[in-house]
Amino acid sequence: MKLCVFDTAEEASRQAALLIDAAVRNQPATVLGLATGGTPLALYREMIRACRAGTDYSRVTTFNLDEYCGLPASHPQSYRTFMDANLFSGLNIAPQNTHIPDGLASPAAHYCHAYEAEIRAAGGIDIQILGIGSNGHIGFNEPGSAFDSRTRVVSLTPQTVRDNARFFHSPDAVPRSAISMGIGTILEARQCLLLGFGEKKAQAVRAALEGPATTDLPASALQSHPDVLVFLDKAAASALSRRDQSSCHPVPKSRDENIF
Ligand code: F6R
Repeated sequence: MKLCVFDTAEEASRQAALLIDAAVRNQPATVLGLATGGTPLALYREMIRACRAGTDYSRVTTFNLDEYCGLPASHPQSYRTFMDANLFSGLNIAPQNTHIPDGLASPAAHYCHAYEAEIRAAGGIDIQILGIGSNGHIGFNEPGSAFDSRTRVVSLTPQTVRDNARFFHSPDAVPRSAISMGIGTILEARQCLLLGFGEKKAQAVRAALEGPATTDLPASALQSHPDVLVFLDKAAASALSRRDQSSCHPVPKSRDENIF
């Protein structure tokens, strides 16, 4: 894992955007794995800014990590609505190239299998963007998820329901299950970019980076991946015992220079 600690989440997001931008410019048919939630919002704003400045997304394909079960795509809190509003509407990406699990799919098991097949057919994910839950989840792979798990229907923990209630009018409105890419699916991405911001994530980040690789802390599975970048702000890095940033390469000076 390569750890980079930035003064602020904004700076980390800006550098993450340079990384994505360089990838898309170097390889116009890049396949991106995307996350929702508060963490990637500033990154997505920067990606939109770069697209307006000339980066071409017309050949990019995306696969989102997850979607709530039971919400139609048009629901205000669906992850499809979130992605359209916060990223896709600002990019010149072809709508048919954006993939988000269908929370109403039935039978779900068959659908999840097909989602995996679509990822494979696209050539696999080049860069997977990840946030981390306060309980260490990635995607909606909650503690206990097997490291070889695949896209499937998962139950959300009470902690995740509480964390995500801020997006709904009441905690009771938060769906209790979701479709999520599995940890095994995530680990097949060629590169993973884990973002962690804020003190609320500090303990999960410490356990993921410095603790044993255990299914109790899903993000610790990333320790076995050969190419993981971890971009943190100072608050999220505050519980790390070793703040060795020697593996953090200097950030690209321009969009055309991808040095990670
Ligand atoms: C959602 C996802 C989740 C979030 C995590 C952090 O697509 O992948 O793992 O990244 O729950 O959420 P925020 O960013 O809202 O703190």
